[in-house]
Amino acid sequence: MTAQLLTTFSSEINSAKLPKHVAVIMDGNGRWAKQRGLPRIEGHRRGANTLKEMLRYCKDLGIETLTAYAFSTENWGRPTGEVNFLMGLFERLLQKELREMEEEDVCINFIGDLSPLPASLQDEMRRSIERTKNNQGVFFNVAINYGSRHEMIKACQAIAEKVQQGELASNEIDESTISQHLYTSSSPDPDLLIRTSGEMRLSNFLLWQLAYSEIYVTDTLWPDFDSEQFDLAIESFQQRDRRFGKVKK
Ligand code: FPP
Repeated sequence: MTAQLLTTFSSEINSAKLPKHVAVIMDGNGRWAKQRGLPRIEGHRRGANTLKEMLRYCKDLGIETLTAYAFSTENWGRPTGEVNFLMGLFERLLQKELREMEEEDVCINFIGDLSPLPASLQDEMRRSIERTKNNQGVFFNVAINYGSRHEMIKACQAIAEKVQQGELASNEIDESTISQHLYTSSSPDPDLLIRTSGEMRLSNFLLWQLAYSEIYVTDTLWPDFDSEQFDLAIESFQQRDRRFGKVKK
């Protein structure tokens, strides 16, 4: 098949070689605010706009799944005012954006341990999952109270329980058994991980799922990450030689 070049996006992007699943660590909101003499929460507010733009751009480009790291299991250690602001922001955004997500054919899902989140936020999450569950335009996973090590512990416990109940033999456990017991069981592994603000860390994000993902780190702070920056990430991805540990024939 001849590779087509999209005309509406960067002419360098090859539409036949798009990543199917992009994961993002949205870092640098606090620094963006500090640089402007603003409170940190302004950075988060602005970061939420960026995420919305990225989701729309993924859909327009034809990227099937976007997974965004919104709140880690470690983020509870932030000042109480910031944690409360973030919980309120998530809830307000879900209320405000639900209609648009329905119209834009977005299917939203959440990954993480949702049980300690405020009850009113959990209600909004359930409502948005229910109302968008049949949408197919773009799959949007939001990681809230997510930690990869915690996810793996939960998976091990669930698998051990099945072995104990005689539903599974220990020598039947393989990669797909593990994958099926993670929060991400319904998504393929990310092809591309983008991290903003220059930090070279995975920060307990999708440690199993990112095993063969291409990693793109940019110094741009998340609130400044725009479609042109996204194009650069895709172009970089398309130049990579993905061998998955094998030798090219
Ligand atoms: C990291 O920047 C950002 C966060 C912990 C919050 C990200 C949340 C959003 C962008 C809102 C998303 C909304 C929904 C509904 C998914 P940081 O505070 O660690 O920045 P710093 O490293 O500069 O301090």
